[in-house]
Amino acid sequence: MGRLEGRVAFVTGAGRGIGAATALRMAEEGARVVLADIDTAGCQEVAAEIERLGSESLVVRCNVADSGNVQEAMDQTVSYFGQLDILVNNAGVLRDNLLFKMSEEDWDTVMNVHLKGMFLCSRAAQAHMVKQKYGRIVSLSSVSALGNRGQSNYSAAKAGIQGLTRTLAIELGPLGITANAVAPGFIDTEMTRTTARRQGLNPDDVIAQASKMIPVRRVGQPRDIANVICFLASEEAGFVSGQIIYVAGGPRS
Ligand SMILES: NC(=O)c1ccc[n+]([C@@H]2O[C@H](COP(=O)([O-])OP(=O)(O)OC[C@H]3O[C@@H](n4cnc5c(N)ncnc54)[C@H](O)[C@@H]3O)[C@@H](O)[C@H]2O)c1
Repeated sequence: MGRLEGRVAFVTGAGRGIGAATALRMAEEGARVVLADIDTAGCQEVAAEIERLGSESLVVRCNVADSGNVQEAMDQTVSYFGQLDILVNNAGVLRDNLLFKMSEEDWDTVMNVHLKGMFLCSRAAQAHMVKQKYGRIVSLSSVSALGNRGQSNYSAAKAGIQGLTRTLAIELGPLGITANAVAPGFIDTEMTRTTARRQGLNPDDVIAQASKMIPVRRVGQPRDIANVICFLASEEAGFVSGQIIYVAGGPRS
């Protein structure tokens, strides 16, 4: 029996990368999974994979920065599966630039998708979790929360996710709900590959270079993060709450 047997998980940004790997990993552990993304084509591919694993999923188009979308997606989840046990706040975008060149729009976009998105999804999900007296919220922070050149918007949002995680842990703990965050280092996804290309670099060269700086001498794969998210989302992690787990192949990236 899988660790998430009988559970329903809502994964944002599930169309590719870490979100897709998490959805698949959770399905392997027996969960039924809601694949929430603005990119539903990606989610359909993940849904087909989940079906092959013998589990069930539901694809919902959801912009996490839009409260109406989020409410609708959560309501759809509960009317389809009858419950909501796990929320993974994973959806994300990058709008990197040095501070003096960063537009207000790029600041707002990143803060809205990452931080406001986590707030909206967590607020909507907890209403169902509180009724069940059970819930697991896992959110994606980043090593960039510690500060990173060209990422003032992203770094602030990812640090904000850490504060919000600790606060959710305090407020929701008495109601049977835990909240934790995973802070990845360099993970090989379209997000990091696009960043390399945007800088005029070959993504494979960037990965080779980054690997030399990481104590375990490789960059992370989406499944490295999915494994940790799965543990935090399981029943056996019930005494872990308000924690930020850095998953970076070493103490920092
Ligand atoms: N890749 C890394 O090295 C790395 C490192 C640290 C943290 N993270 C974080 O992990 C998470 C996933 O990253 P990834 O590398 O898989 O990214 P990715 O770009 O490969 O995938 C992100 C997914 O989020 C979706 N998305 C974007 N905006 C959305 C919105 N408004 N509503 C719903 N879905 C939306 C995209 O369509 C996409 O499917 C992000 O929060 C990212 O910040 C990634």
